[in-house]
Amino acid sequence: MITFNYLLEQVKLYKKPIIIANVLALIVTFISVPIPLFIPFLVDEVLLGKEGKFIDFINQFVQINSAEYYILIVFILTLFLHALVVIIGIMRNAYLDKVSEEIRLNMRQKILLHLKKVSMSEYDMLGSGSISSKMGTDIRVVIDFLSSSMGTIVIQLLKLFGMSAVLLYLNWKLALVILIINPIVVKMFVKVFKKLSELMKDRNKTIATFNNSLVEGLELFNQIRVQNRENHFFDKINHDATEVRDKTYEYEVKWFKSLGVARLWMVYSNTLFQMLAVYFVYIGEMSIGEMMAIFVYAGMVQAPMNILLRFVQSYHDAKEAMDRLNDILRLKKEPYYEMKKDPFRGKETASIELRDVSFAYDEHKSILKNFNLKIEAGEKVAITGETGSGKSTLANILMGLYPVTKGKIFYNGVEVKEVGFEKIRENIGFVLQSPLMFNDTLRYNLSIGNEYSDEEMYEALKVAQLYEFVQELPKKLDTIIGKNGTKLSGGQKQRLSIARVLLDRPKVIIFDESTSSLDNDTETKLLDALDDYIKNKTVITIAHRQTTIDKSENVLRLYPIKEEKR
Ligand SMILES: Nc1ncnc2c1ncn2[C@@H]1O[C@H](COP(=O)(O)OP(=O)(O)O)[C@@H](O)[C@H]1O
Ligand SMILES: [Mg+2]
Repeated sequence: MITFNYLLEQVKLYKKPIIIANVLALIVTFISVPIPLFIPFLVDEVLLGKEGKFIDFINQFVQINSAEYYILIVFILTLFLHALVVIIGIMRNAYLDKVSEEIRLNMRQKILLHLKKVSMSEYDMLGSGSISSKMGTDIRVVIDFLSSSMGTIVIQLLKLFGMSAVLLYLNWKLALVILIINPIVVKMFVKVFKKLSELMKDRNKTIATFNNSLVEGLELFNQIRVQNRENHFFDKINHDATEVRDKTYEYEVKWFKSLGVARLWMVYSNTLFQMLAVYFVYIGEMSIGEMMAIFVYAGMVQAPMNILLRFVQSYHDAKEAMDRLNDILRLKKEPYYEMKKDPFRGKETASIELRDVSFAYDEHKSILKNFNLKIEAGEKVAITGETGSGKSTLANILMGLYPVTKGKIFYNGVEVKEVGFEKIRENIGFVLQSPLMFNDTLRYNLSIGNEYSDEEMYEALKVAQLYEFVQELPKKLDTIIGKNGTKLSGGQKQRLSIARVLLDRPKVIIFDESTSSLDNDTETKLLDALDDYIKNKTVITIAHRQTTIDKSENVLRLYPIKEEKR
């Protein structure tokens, strides 16, 4: 899970750059905090001719006794120190950014690694849109919090301490006043922020709803238009957008109101403080230069305070973002079985056996119950049965996509738990009933990341009866097929998905209604061409059409299980 503890662990991995960055921050603070003291010292010691340490300090290095020179020295010194602050600041940032980006990557990898192993039934429940928004937005919120806690906060706290020290040094009585009043004001701000973060949660929820309906509406646009439901969908999106407007407006107004009131208190406390300072000068407690210095610092204290306040807010945001990220990490993993025995090794194909297998997507509706099946190595079996009888489910189970609730499955006599799903999927080709396509080239859709020569691809396309079609395309294998293959017909998609499974040279092949969209003629050609390819292989063909079924040696008919008595 991603928690504050996890972030701490991560931060510990990068101790060195973080320590360097914070040492640099310390240096920046040491340099930048005293800079504003120059002017008040000039006023007191050069303009008003008071005794002071500043001129004594400069005189240690250069013996000059001219106001112009003092001013020039302060001028050059100020320029130099500011430049130094900027340069060290840039270095510090570079260290911190590196760490933030490393940790962002680590978080993404942690989540991706989990997703890679997530079980299909769990994945079915979480939409891809929600995962992608989590991977972007929520990780950004967490990283923002992290980078401000690693760097900014330390530097701001240091500055605050530095400034408090200077204030105490200048006039401890007045300093105490500001150091007591300010935390009270800060406490008020924290209370306001807590209230606002509730409102923000509300607003964020409406934004998420809006995003979801937008993404879904756009993804299913084709279906929506065909059924003439644009009005319905755009009304819904519009409605959600209106909600976003209302909630955001409410949030913004309340935000400014609360902030305004809190700020007013801040201004009041400042005014009180200023008047006290003037009074102190009047009764001879303080010099004018000191008063100026105190004003400068009292003003400067605000900036780090504001940043600290925002930090409190970002802490709350990060907590929520982490919770949303953990939605992904909470998805259960597919059971992992290490390969102990490879039943496919050195064999051309494999036998399949299901012994007493039961399966249900949910406990009240069995799809398979005490199911037994033995398919010999090299046997060709057709599976038929009415829709919903569990044909695709059986295929999914054979691929290990859904774990069985009871029973055992064997390949060449070795139980699945001793083979591991990776080996199984490597050796069994499964042509999905509704194959999915990447919005990429035919080449990519055939290879999906594996390396195949063009000859191999064309050979597979020939068997799948798609060779001529591809040959006639101007860009051939480099043709882009559109989102989920929209530029292909249903039959072409089916043939493409057959070709890409053939390319993997599986030892067992499962076709799930893979030729259902083809005309009889093309199907016959395809099946004939396949004959050679699958000669010695175990093949399971799920089909309805008699001509398809006829190609197989044995036929298995599935029947749906009647509603269970409860
Ligand atoms: N991912 C799933 N989650 C829950 N139920 C499912 C899922 N896939 C299929 N089903 C249900 O399981 C039953 C069998 O479906 P399926 O195996 O696809 O049948 P067939 O391929 O024979 O038409 C159906 O009642 C279907 O509603
Ligand atoms: Mg099916």
